[in-house]
Amino acid sequence: MTMETLLDIRNLSIGVNIEGSWLPAVLDISFTVYKGEVLGIVGESGCGKSLTALSIPGLLPRGARRQNGAIYFEGRDLAGLDEEELRPLRGSKISMVFQEPLPSLNPLMSAGRQIAETLELHGEKDNNREKVIALMGRLGLPEPEKLINAYPHQLSGGMCQRVMLALALISGPRLLIADEPTTALDQNTGEQILSLISGVTREGTSSALLISHDLSVIQSVCSRVLVMYSGRIVEEGPVEAVFSRPAHEYTRLLLGAIPDRKRKGQRLAGIPGRVPSIAERPAGCPFNKRCPSAQDLCSVAFPAKRRAKALSEDAQGGEHSSRCVLYPGEEV
Ligand SMILES: Nc1ncnc2c1ncn2[C@@H]1O[C@H](COP(=O)(O)OP(=O)(O)OP(=O)(O)O)[C@@H](O)[C@H]1O
Ligand SMILES: [Mg+2]
Repeated sequence: MTMETLLDIRNLSIGVNIEGSWLPAVLDISFTVYKGEVLGIVGESGCGKSLTALSIPGLLPRGARRQNGAIYFEGRDLAGLDEEELRPLRGSKISMVFQEPLPSLNPLMSAGRQIAETLELHGEKDNNREKVIALMGRLGLPEPEKLINAYPHQLSGGMCQRVMLALALISGPRLLIADEPTTALDQNTGEQILSLISGVTREGTSSALLISHDLSVIQSVCSRVLVMYSGRIVEEGPVEAVFSRPAHEYTRLLLGAIPDRKRKGQRLAGIPGRVPSIAERPAGCPFNKRCPSAQDLCSVAFPAKRRAKALSEDAQGGEHSSRCVLYPGEEV
């Protein structure tokens, strides 16, 4: 199966300002989102998942900036565009559900009004009240007839997230970026949201980038996954291959940290130690200080990307590769 590229990120580095110095939070990452797929990004807190996501539509926060690299979306490098050129893409071709939904909603406008205005913006003129109620119902929001008049501060975190998702889906985006969209939700609602996200890709022309701490979330909706650690992509490949035959010690321990991989809502916990701060990132493989199998070589250089031996290609498409000296394979 040939896969058509929607988004192609090449050698992206993102710096953050720490006490006046710009230090790399995301380091030379490259990856592709293909048309019609849900690509997952998984990794512990502080690994650079959100910064990676925010850089795509040019929404890096104050104190963070792209230092290097290209962001090709439908063949055009977004990294070279200014605010005015990026704005029309946001909320139309590229939609985003933020990890912190409350600040992204207008506090002075009811949830229903915000959805109705977005519908109007996208050419929906008639029966918008009914459409808003129907959309809210599909997102599992209780009593949408009442909720339509509620202001963001009257909604729970999970409700705000669902309103954000409603706003994000109205335009029929080519790329939906969802950063931890199920974290504040109970299991049933989380599943509803995930099925809406995977629904985006049903036609085969739209894609989603889904960020989650929760391995079971990634496993249930993504076709491929990137594993990030301390600003680096340490492993990537089809979900099935990565989960059944991890090719990086970090991934192996992440999976091992979860007693029952299918247990819903389980967050990543259990690898002794913590992700190093950006200022304290060790030389070589950033995981070397926590890795029980680290060798001398691991503190010398970050390993090259190598094809995982067990599986190089599968029908779902995509290569399984990692950067770990313990899993030698052909360099790619
Ligand atoms: N605006 C900022 N200014 C300074 N440092 C920042 C800024 N935003 C993020 N960072 C730092 O960059 C690193 C990566 O942050 P990021 O939010 O991308 O992590 P994450 O993988 O999304 O984590 P989480 O799972 O907790 O959401 C962290 O060390 C964070 O403290
Ligand atoms: Mg984040």
